[in-house]
Amino acid sequence: MNASVHQLQDDPHVGRYERSTGQSTEWWRVTLSDRPQMYRIEHGRGDAPANIDTVVDLENLKSKLQKWHREGFLRPGAEEAPVAVEGRNGFLEDLRRTASAATPPVSPSQSDDAHVAIGAVEIPLGHAGAPVPRMNPAYLFPERFADILQDIVENRRVMLIGHTGAGKTSLIEQVAARSQHGVLRANMNGQTTIGDFVGFWTVKGGETLWVDGVLPAAMREGLWLVVDEIDFAEPSILAVLTAVLEPHGHLLLKEKGNERVAPHPSFRLFATANAVGAMSVYRHLYQGANLMNEAFLDRWRVYLMDYLSPQEEAEVLMRTLGARITQPMANTLAAIAADCRAAFARDDLASAFSTRRLLDWAELMLRSGDPERAAGPAIYAKVSAEDAALIRSIIRHHIAFDE
Ligand SMILES: Nc1ncnc2c1ncn2[C@@H]1O[C@H](COP(=O)(O)OP(=O)(O)O)[C@@H](O)[C@H]1O
Ligand SMILES: [Mg+2]
Repeated sequence: MNASVHQLQDDPHVGRYERSTGQSTEWWRVTLSDRPQMYRIEHGRGDAPANIDTVVDLENLKSKLQKWHREGFLRPGAEEAPVAVEGRNGFLEDLRRTASAATPPVSPSQSDDAHVAIGAVEIPLGHAGAPVPRMNPAYLFPERFADILQDIVENRRVMLIGHTGAGKTSLIEQVAARSQHGVLRANMNGQTTIGDFVGFWTVKGGETLWVDGVLPAAMREGLWLVVDEIDFAEPSILAVLTAVLEPHGHLLLKEKGNERVAPHPSFRLFATANAVGAMSVYRHLYQGANLMNEAFLDRWRVYLMDYLSPQEEAEVLMRTLGARITQPMANTLAAIAADCRAAFARDDLASAFSTRRLLDWAELMLRSGDPERAAGPAIYAKVSAEDAALIRSIIRHHIAFDE
């Protein structure tokens, strides 16, 4: 009892969170559960008894706290706590007050009320049957993805920039897999022509037919379109894209007598890039990438995606490989990947080290029982001899080989 009272005072999450809703006050109460490391959360209105009473772990609690914060729940008294600040400091105070009060998450116009929660963000469900990507149950959604998820709900145009294999495309696909939205992808690095993108006329059985490209197809059918490696796109494709970058922007099919294509409410547009904006310093690694002008970038929310942290990556290894790998093994492999990336950032290595590469190496060494042999096809053969030598020495630093 004493111990729990003591903890109760120390634990920053414990307390009552309230917002006023017209006549009464709606509240959440967080207390320590009898079970270690767990929290009891209760919900109610006014003086009525709690109508929700449940026990969650810390991770779950944290996402709930964020959600409540967004929904305008505040801890009474918590506002007075900071010492009065003046001048430019007042801005942040105002912002926190308005931001927590003013943002009911804007849902798109689907009215079926069916949602799936990813962390604290509720994503509206799409209609299955479309090309919904396959779900990867091992996929990890760190808390920092919440802004991206909320942008998807609010129908913002999201561009993810980062090194190859950081998880840009898979993030979109895994959100879509969980929320049952079909995804079309168009890769701008080589294959996609303006005809593939917008559409073209063709003759079939003596008849002239219009075939929609991926953009009008996604807009009409309410699919999510991922424009991969947008920094390689031709100007004609960028020009067409610009028209639909506004959330409700229409597409004009000039080739088809100026037909206007309206976006389905479920349509979402994403782009990925390696060397744009904050990633421009790495342009030498992505030969042929174009600089994108600021006016174009300003039409997107641009998120810099870094690789997962070693802890997160170890968790992904454990989730992906299950009982075949132990936590210390996963930690070691994640530390090797982190060291290789640090070497890359110092310019000691010319090749990036993706999560995909790490997973593949781990899979292969589980088959052969030999990390060095597995590193051949998974790593060494893909990089220069100098890089292979350095990566080998990093691996040997972490794994003691029997000679
Ligand atoms: N958060 C994550 N959880 C689990 N696996 C991930 C995560 N991020 C990346 N990966 C792994 O890395 C691979 C490469 O990611 P991908 O989305 O193709 O990278 P990018 O598009 O940035 O090149 C994915 O297929 C997945 O296996
Ligand atoms: Mg990709």
